[in-house]
Amino acid sequence: MTAFDSATASVETPMNGISAITLETAAGTLLPVFIGSNYADICGEVARQIARVARERRNAVLGLATGSTPIGVYDALIRLAASGAADLSAARSFNLDEYYPMEADSPQSYHTFMRRHLFDQVPWGHWHVPSGRNRPREIIEADCRAYEAAIQTAGGIDLQLLGIGRTGHIGFNEPGSARDSRTRLVDLSAATREDAAQNFGGLEQTPHQAVSMGLGTILEARRILLMASGASKAGIVRRAFLEPPTTDLPASLLQQHPGTALYLDTAAASDLF
Ligand code: PGA
Repeated sequence: MTAFDSATASVETPMNGISAITLETAAGTLLPVFIGSNYADICGEVARQIARVARERRNAVLGLATGSTPIGVYDALIRLAASGAADLSAARSFNLDEYYPMEADSPQSYHTFMRRHLFDQVPWGHWHVPSGRNRPREIIEADCRAYEAAIQTAGGIDLQLLGIGRTGHIGFNEPGSARDSRTRLVDLSAATREDAAQNFGGLEQTPHQAVSMGLGTILEARRILLMASGASKAGIVRRAFLEPPTTDLPASLLQQHPGTALYLDTAAASDLF
């Protein structure tokens, strides 16, 4: 069995409303693509995958994402847990990123986002979000190394959830991020700051930096589910998977990760075929 076979073999048969397609990427790899007619369908399917991983291994290690895209997944996961179809009480999770500088209890922090959308609503084992606290550079660097070490100690990430930004970023790895990058302080691109500005009451108040897991960290996850919803994502999804992989478009590196699958609604998939 090749790595690809073993990766795809663990993708449960999708429910009604989802089409499963194999996409040949620019790198020549075959990528499973699950397309739902709407956002709710793909969220339900991704939540089911997460629940399954947690069922197979009670203390599964999940890589979690923020942004508007995964909110529906967390809603679906909370419903699955409430009905007894998902048990996350022993799950461990590591989030991709946090703004910098950012206090954990700030209303705009990703700590707050995750508590509100998931961790305060469902029994959860252990969760981790990178610290965005304003501290001396050497303390931040030590903290980033500790975050990486904690992922390793947990046994590595079983399943990583990703969105994709307008720049093709995954986490806050903007174009030009190194393939082997690790959790670190990063600069946000102008486009990413513009997209975030509404959450901060304007561009002036929007942070210029973040702490983000690296591309090397993400690419070590055993399975990766990248989600995209809406017509505004169609162009970047096409470029990421149908143009040759390059660090200028970080999501394109997933073409060479044999455990990657895409979960798209029809609008986000509309430029692929
Ligand atoms: P979004 O962000 O889910 O809010 O579109 C995606 C991302 O930037 O990764």
